[in-house]
Amino acid sequence: MKDVKILAIESSCDETAAAVVKNGREVLSNVIYSQIDLHTIYGGVVPEIASRKHIEKINQVVGKALSDAGETLDSIDAIAVTYGPGLVGALLVGVSFAKALAFAKNKPLVGVHHIKGHVSANYITYPELEPPFLCLVASGGHTHLVMVKSYLDYEIIGRTRDDAAGEAYDKIARAIGLGYPGGPKVEKAAHEGNPKAFDFPRAKIDEHPYDFSFSGVKSAVLNTINGAKMKGEEINPNDIAASFQAAVIDSMRERILMAIREYGVKSFAMAGGVASNQTIRHALEDACSGVGVSFHCPPPILCTDNAAMIGAAGYFEFINGKRDGLDLNAIPGLQLV
Ligand code: KG4
Ligand code: ZN
Repeated sequence: MKDVKILAIESSCDETAAAVVKNGREVLSNVIYSQIDLHTIYGGVVPEIASRKHIEKINQVVGKALSDAGETLDSIDAIAVTYGPGLVGALLVGVSFAKALAFAKNKPLVGVHHIKGHVSANYITYPELEPPFLCLVASGGHTHLVMVKSYLDYEIIGRTRDDAAGEAYDKIARAIGLGYPGGPKVEKAAHEGNPKAFDFPRAKIDEHPYDFSFSGVKSAVLNTINGAKMKGEEINPNDIAASFQAAVIDSMRERILMAIREYGVKSFAMAGGVASNQTIRHALEDACSGVGVSFHCPPPILCTDNAAMIGAAGYFEFINGKRDGLDLNAIPGLQLV
């Protein structure tokens, strides 16, 4: 079969990214312009600033992705773009840019779901990996436990009832004065702390045992910090970080092991920005090896937002015949199934 090279574009949040991916598994280029520094002073992503920066950078980023890959707009087979979920103004930049290229060069256009992109980062990392497998997608906006039944067909087993895991990390980071982005900073602080110093809650939702809730642990952390302040007591922020992380890991592990048992899972994967956390990764890898389930997790650069993952997901959509028209729109609340 002829090679299929896809130019992929991602602009759903604060990364302007483009990549060229061959046959869904091989990354020929992966260019990421991160806006993190720009948003740090505001303590989080400012949507209007994100959109403006995407507009400023996208042409350059796409051009570099093509030249790094040694490709041109004429030599690629299709254009894949994230069309949701995400910030509408940010998504629109990528979608409009991709549509303009598709129109100008008469190339097929494939709209990609951002979460399917995160999951597909595993196809790049593990060329042999094929569905079905269980996947924990944990990012700044989403926490989903999904059964990936085929490349295109997903079943959601559990989801967060309130905060996403990454969002909880970001809020804890703010509470202990570490700033934005929170995930990597809390992970680092947790290395220096005692995970048993505080017993933060591991929430369970009676009727929906696979659903997550991180707002309880977040409130418990805030109460602990405020209580100590009122009493004039010192608390070690590293202990808070480590105890918070232990609660997050326990709630993930419990649900994953339960799903492995109930669904007869043989293969498990992680995806999303939170999957770049090495402590979580090692804990879940141990849990899987304890029950004989093969474990997968992309390297950090493919866990946080990037376009290579969109190129991988776009490839499987493309070879299965998905084509979008020039009426493709950004859908900020796009559902997974
Ligand atoms: O997937 P991603 O790059 O963007 C979204 O689609 O949301 O995820 C970003 C989220 C942020 O909330 C960030 O704090 C979290 O992933 N994150 C981490 C780590 N690195 C990034 N959370 C925990 N530990 C990390 N090392
Ligand atoms: Zn993401």
